[in-house]
Amino acid sequence: MSLNTVAEFASELKKSPETLLEQLKAAGVAKSSSTDALTDTDKQMLLSYLKASHGSEADGKKKITLTKKSTSEIKQADATGKARTIQVEVRKKRTFIKRDDTPEVAAEAAARSAQAAQVTQDLVRREEEVRKQAEMINQQEQELAKERQEREEREERERKEREAEERARAYAEAEAAKQRQAKEAQKEAAAGNAAFAEARAKAQADARAKADEESRQRQAEEAARAKDLEDRRRKALAEAEAIRAMMAAPKKVLVAKKPEEPKKAAPVADAKKAAPSKDAKPAVAGAAKDKDAAGAARGGKDKEVKSSKLSSSWSNDAPGKKKEIKTRGDSSGGVGGRSNWRGGPKGGRRGDRNDQQQQQQQEFRALEISVPETITVAELAHKMAVKASELIKVLMKMGQMVTINQPLDQDTAMIVVEEMGHTAKIAALDSPEAFSEEDTSKYTGELLPRAPVVTVMGHVDHGKTSLLDYIRRSKVASGEAGGITQHIGAYHVETPRGIVTFLDTPGHEAFTAMRARGAQSTDIVILVCAADDGVMPQTKEAIKHAKAAGVPIVVAITKADKPEANPDKVKQELVVEEVLPEEYGGDSPFVAVSSKTGMGIDELLEQVLLQAEVLELRAPVDASAKGLVIEAQLDKGRGSVATVLVQSGTLNVGDVVLAGQTYGRVRAMLDENGKNTKSAGPSIPVEIQGLSDVPLAGDDFMVMADERRAREIATYRAGKFRNTKLAKQQAAKLENMFSDMTAGNVQTLPLIIKADVQGSQEALATSLLKLSTDEVKVQIVYSGVGGISESDVNLALASKAIIIGFNVRADAQARKTAEGNDVDLRYYNIIYDAVDEVKSAMSGMLAPEKREEIIGMAEIRTVFVASKIGTVAGSYITQGHVTRSAHFRLLRDNVVIYTGEIESLRRLKDDVKEVKEGFECGIKLRNYNDIREGDVLEVFEIKEIARTL
Ligand code: GTP
Ligand code: MG
Repeated sequence: MSLNTVAEFASELKKSPETLLEQLKAAGVAKSSSTDALTDTDKQMLLSYLKASHGSEADGKKKITLTKKSTSEIKQADATGKARTIQVEVRKKRTFIKRDDTPEVAAEAAARSAQAAQVTQDLVRREEEVRKQAEMINQQEQELAKERQEREEREERERKEREAEERARAYAEAEAAKQRQAKEAQKEAAAGNAAFAEARAKAQADARAKADEESRQRQAEEAARAKDLEDRRRKALAEAEAIRAMMAAPKKVLVAKKPEEPKKAAPVADAKKAAPSKDAKPAVAGAAKDKDAAGAARGGKDKEVKSSKLSSSWSNDAPGKKKEIKTRGDSSGGVGGRSNWRGGPKGGRRGDRNDQQQQQQQEFRALEISVPETITVAELAHKMAVKASELIKVLMKMGQMVTINQPLDQDTAMIVVEEMGHTAKIAALDSPEAFSEEDTSKYTGELLPRAPVVTVMGHVDHGKTSLLDYIRRSKVASGEAGGITQHIGAYHVETPRGIVTFLDTPGHEAFTAMRARGAQSTDIVILVCAADDGVMPQTKEAIKHAKAAGVPIVVAITKADKPEANPDKVKQELVVEEVLPEEYGGDSPFVAVSSKTGMGIDELLEQVLLQAEVLELRAPVDASAKGLVIEAQLDKGRGSVATVLVQSGTLNVGDVVLAGQTYGRVRAMLDENGKNTKSAGPSIPVEIQGLSDVPLAGDDFMVMADERRAREIATYRAGKFRNTKLAKQQAAKLENMFSDMTAGNVQTLPLIIKADVQGSQEALATSLLKLSTDEVKVQIVYSGVGGISESDVNLALASKAIIIGFNVRADAQARKTAEGNDVDLRYYNIIYDAVDEVKSAMSGMLAPEKREEIIGMAEIRTVFVASKIGTVAGSYITQGHVTRSAHFRLLRDNVVIYTGEIESLRRLKDDVKEVKEGFECGIKLRNYNDIREGDVLEVFEIKEIARTL
């Protein structure tokens, strides 16, 4: 039992001992002094007394209730941009109950807490309802806003139209007035009333100034209005942000109010939002009303007042900024800016689009796009799996204004492909992928055997056409003008052992290019050499072409029926040209034939077909056709006519054909006999009509699925051709060697060597060939003995070779052709010079510091010997001029005999410094007298040339 004194207990209770003594007395405990001891019984009595005296003993517990109320105000912009004030009142009531452990009290507490939970749930539900209603209202508001926006746009448009009309009218009036005034002024001036005119002019100037002032004011007003709108938009945005923040806040309050375990104190949430639930419904009407009002009086001041009613229009988004953004066309205005710029109705779909974009971003896959020569915007977009409008947008950003159907060139297309995050690769030029999507399906069908294409080549009049005539049992040769073939003829012949397609080439020296083409488009070459004539220049050339094309040669020694025929001699000559007969261990069958008697022709065909069998020629048949243009012409009646050789697939009438820079639908097709035909398979030559233009002989042709595409490519190629025409036609220049090499596109340096004697030709060829390195190879296209002829120049042109003349010159015709075609002709008289120059060209150090420049040509017409002077050449200046200080080269039959200096130059009896073209003169050569009539002097000066490269 605890015992203490009255004084101690009083100090424990924080009371004075006197008061305690009084209370003890009242409670019936007799204590007289503060030092008296107090028992527990005494304390119990005192407690009972005190409880009774305070009157609350019945409850046995105490309850404290705290009520808290807070009001806040938030502002939010509605769909029309009006600011609204929303009143938020949060009321909290908290009751603290002193718990008692009696069961009734606990039950009561539990019931209370359940009740509290119920209340909280109700509140949550109610708030959810309110939010839903608010959302509904918001949606309705948005719709209304959209309508209003449309209406405003319409009004704005009409207003602008009206203004434009007014302006136009005003302008017209002003113009009329001005004219009137001008007329009047004229009249006045005429009448001498200058002062009056001046006053009028002043008045006009004033009027103009006033008008200017007015327009300035208008502008300022407009600017102010724009600024005002901008400010309001900013405010709206800020408020939207605030409202979003607020949206999160009430939820937290509710969470806090969720019932906790009622242990010590059960909080009873009694938060209540009066405004939302009450005002939710009227708000719809209010919004509608509000919008109408705002629509009628734009920017009216009553917005603020009305908006305050709409305290419940909460939303996650703030569509209110739309209108302002639209009117300014300001794309920097935030999320809604872009869609509004495109027009109101689309704004509502913004959410969808964002989703879509997100989805696109998620699904983005970098593709490898093969870009052909040209491609339209739509097709490129399709390839990249994007909308054409997206692509156009990117192109616009790159500064290209394009339409959906516009073809893009390869470079642009590739840049844009890379820009959009894909990888671009160039579609190979000749692959069908380069041209169109549909053609990309590679031919997977069977490759069927095809007829061999056999080109007949040889010297002029050696009997090529006659041979073919015999095989075909036709008479082409007898009908030819001048008895010579002047174009490639193509025929397909059915022999007992299968079909053979023959290409007949001209033998005349002028047709080198044609022969070259013939050799390139063939499988086998029949080299024709007349038994009575032997190997001739074009025979050699034909061999070169065949070897260059790498095709097998079958030799036909023609005119074997002739008495003077000597096939063995021909054989030997051909061996010299490195065409080896099979019996000598070579791979070219030799057959002696006669087109008159038909001798050996079967054997020749046999040999040809044997070669063909070895080659195992196959091509797809059931595919779209591809091939070569052999010849083309413009026919008066039929338009563009092209002889084409189908190399693979089948060409049909009605097919769309792209040939070089031309295209067209095949209107009609004729076989080599001039008969109409519907289709042509591999190795069949046909004449087609319907091309837009005359293609070039040698062009590739192909069938395309889409005529538009064919046209695009043809047009594009034509344009490109125009641009690169010069560059393309320019033959290879020695000086270009280095740049070509650095560009990495030249691995070989093709040369044609012509020399005065066999020995130096061989020497030069071997020395030049020795210059070959790993990177650059010297390729001797042809080397021979004698002056440079036109056919050499043609060959150089065809093979892009440089002609090296060693102690020989080009004849007049060759010079002209070389000049006209920019073929590089180089003359040397010392073998080491030639080797050094080619070497320095190859190592990129070219540029001779001294170069000869031919200034004239003189023909020696008489030779006379003067006793004192010596031998003098009585010459006629055929070209240019001759100077006394010049050097000369003595040419006999285009071969250099001597090189030296001119000693003196005389006209009549006078020494002269110079003699011009068309005059006669006497030329004395220093230290040289062995001159003959008919010799030619090539007069040149040595000039210093600045190093280029
Ligand atoms: P180009 O096309 O101009 O290069 O001539 P080509 O090679 O086609 O010679 P072509 O067939 O025109 O024949 C030229 C001449 O030789 C003609 O007069 C033919 O009659 C004659 N000829 C061709 N082949 C033979 C042959 O085998 N025997 C005889 N005796 N004469 C022939
Ligand atoms: Mg012929």
